[in-house]
Amino acid sequence: MIQKLEQLDGLGWIERLESPHFHWNLSQLKDLSASHDYWALMDSGRPVAFTALIRLPQAWEIPVLATHPDHQGQGWMRKLLQQLFDTICQDAEIWLEVHEANAPARALYQALGFIEVGRRPRYYSDGGTAVLLSRQP
Ligand SMILES: CC(C)(COP(=O)(O)OP(=O)(O)OC[C@H]1O[C@@H](n2cnc3c(N)ncnc32)[C@H](O)[C@@H]1OP(=O)(O)O)[C@@H](O)C(=O)NCCC(=O)NCCS
Repeated sequence: MIQKLEQLDGLGWIERLESPHFHWNLSQLKDLSASHDYWALMDSGRPVAFTALIRLPQAWEIPVLATHPDHQGQGWMRKLLQQLFDTICQDAEIWLEVHEANAPARALYQALGFIEVGRRPRYYSDGGTAVLLSRQP
């Protein structure tokens, strides 16, 4: 069952993520908790997959998401996002952006029905392009 994360406890594992496209640390996530709601799937009481949601006037935005390195490839993020889409995000389009070279994330978004709606060249600090994606409710 999805759970709202209030204190962001148990997310220390984000420091272990090896993805070159994940640039967040816990302090940054906490700084944004006033404007973002964080949601997670738990395993033995600990968050193993989490994401943030921002409610914009006309859409939802997903600024960040990750699965614990020991739990990746087991369906956790697909399950978390699908549950959020079926409950909280039913009423509006969902927007996000992804580094063009982040193959696991791009495959995940495609599997969940996101389509490309634009690109921002040289958007990331490594010079990579941001691919803008949208999913209709
Ligand atoms: C992207 C990420 C969140 C996927 O989470 P996950 O829990 O491992 O994903 P799931 O097991 O739910 O996989 C769902 C689908 O995503 C795709 N996918 C996930 N990992 C993949 C990989 N390594 N290679 C290719 N496709 C992948 C597949 O389409 C998969 O469906 P399938 O298993 O039926 O083939 C995870 O790789 C991660 O935490 N990456 C680092 C953080 C990151 O880059 N976040 C995005 C920027 S903020």
